[in-house]
Amino acid sequence: MTRTTFPAGFVWGAATSAYQIEGAARADGRGESIWDRFSHTPGKTQGGASGDIACDHYRRWRDDFALLANLGAGAYRFSIAWPRILPSGRGQVNQAGLDFYRRQVDDLLRRGITPYVTLYHWDLPVALEDAGGWPARATAEAFAAYADVVAQALGDRVKHWITINEPWCVSMLSYQVGAHAPGRQDWPAALAASHHTLLAHGMAEAEIRRSSPGAQVGIALNFTASVPASDSQADHEAARAFDGYFNRWFLDPVCGRGYPSDMVAGYMEAGHLPDGLSFVRPGDMDIIAAPTDFLGVNYYTREVVAAAARPGAWQPVYLDTPRTAMGWEIYPEGLFQLLRRLHRAYDLPKIYLTENGVSYLDAPGEDGRVRDGRRIDYLREHLDACLRAIAAGVPLAGYFQWSLLDNFEWGHGYAQRFGAVYVDYATQRRTPKDSFFWYRDVIARNGLGG
Ligand code: FCB
Repeated sequence: MTRTTFPAGFVWGAATSAYQIEGAARADGRGESIWDRFSHTPGKTQGGASGDIACDHYRRWRDDFALLANLGAGAYRFSIAWPRILPSGRGQVNQAGLDFYRRQVDDLLRRGITPYVTLYHWDLPVALEDAGGWPARATAEAFAAYADVVAQALGDRVKHWITINEPWCVSMLSYQVGAHAPGRQDWPAALAASHHTLLAHGMAEAEIRRSSPGAQVGIALNFTASVPASDSQADHEAARAFDGYFNRWFLDPVCGRGYPSDMVAGYMEAGHLPDGLSFVRPGDMDIIAAPTDFLGVNYYTREVVAAAARPGAWQPVYLDTPRTAMGWEIYPEGLFQLLRRLHRAYDLPKIYLTENGVSYLDAPGEDGRVRDGRRIDYLREHLDACLRAIAAGVPLAGYFQWSLLDNFEWGHGYAQRFGAVYVDYATQRRTPKDSFFWYRDVIARNGLGG
């Protein structure tokens, strides 16, 4: 018999991040972040879009929380903007920033919605970038100090913390690929950034535990299922290399296994680690491996890879398969396989799907309804993968749809729409999509139904 119901107590939520929804980029003492600067640099985002206004959530958050309540969400994952708390990244605390989030947390708690707070969702204060950014160790130390400030202010009422969102994006996408702020393309800097991001996670975890007794602390990693294009050994090796680059490089250290040796060897050979792992100081790997209460998994798609010229290198292969508006392949089986693998190969106490969702561009019809049936299909297939994973013994404890609202999708600006709720940016009007009501039913019955 196929299981359609989730375990009792399964956490249902929606997720957002500060820069993508808040707007009010200059309000109440907020400092500048690398995304303000990047989005205002010509050619970096689609249509020159920025998060200056975004969903104007900074002013409309009460309305947005009413939407969450209407959804029946038991939890809400959102991020705190570091530059609202510490406009220069360190030093002077901006009380108005702390107050803003305290009001939100209190309102959520009043509504019976559990806050899941992410401390870093990519909006690094520019002052820190100018002092070296994530490739500099001092940024990890500044992050720990920031975590301490926030945990002291909110730790009595926030009991679920995610330190860093997607270290691969924070380091590789931002300092090696260069598609995200600050837009650098420098392998050695990116690998140093990856280490400091993980170190920042471990250091912050200790701060949170100090000021937020009984809190659950974790990190959100983004995983892409890595699938070989053929059965050839070379393609299998390529898939393993991509998995190493994207998944294992971050997962293994957090799980106490250190940096994967095949990847270290490959990076050395390619000249990406000119000084070896000199950025790793004694004790770092233990800090990074401090046991977490859960792993946050962000999953959207897979990558099919084939061997490239250099042994162990990979190249993406494009298959003519169903795609989302982002061009990402719809591959729910990858989620099932990923969860099962995480469970079997790593000793994880608990997993939350901290992000899963899809961009389609469906807009309100004449009657005002947003018919996003394709999103319903996507969510249903991925939730079904979750159910199968749970049946296989995976300790999956919750699911957060990305995203509550259509929002600023980084380099894609406003050209992508991941929301359960449609946002008309000219009027800031919110319209729950068909999938919103579908998800509400799923939440209400704690399952997919027959
Ligand atoms: C994830 C990000 C999130 C959003 C989704 C689509 O990588 O964490 O902010 O951009 O992808």
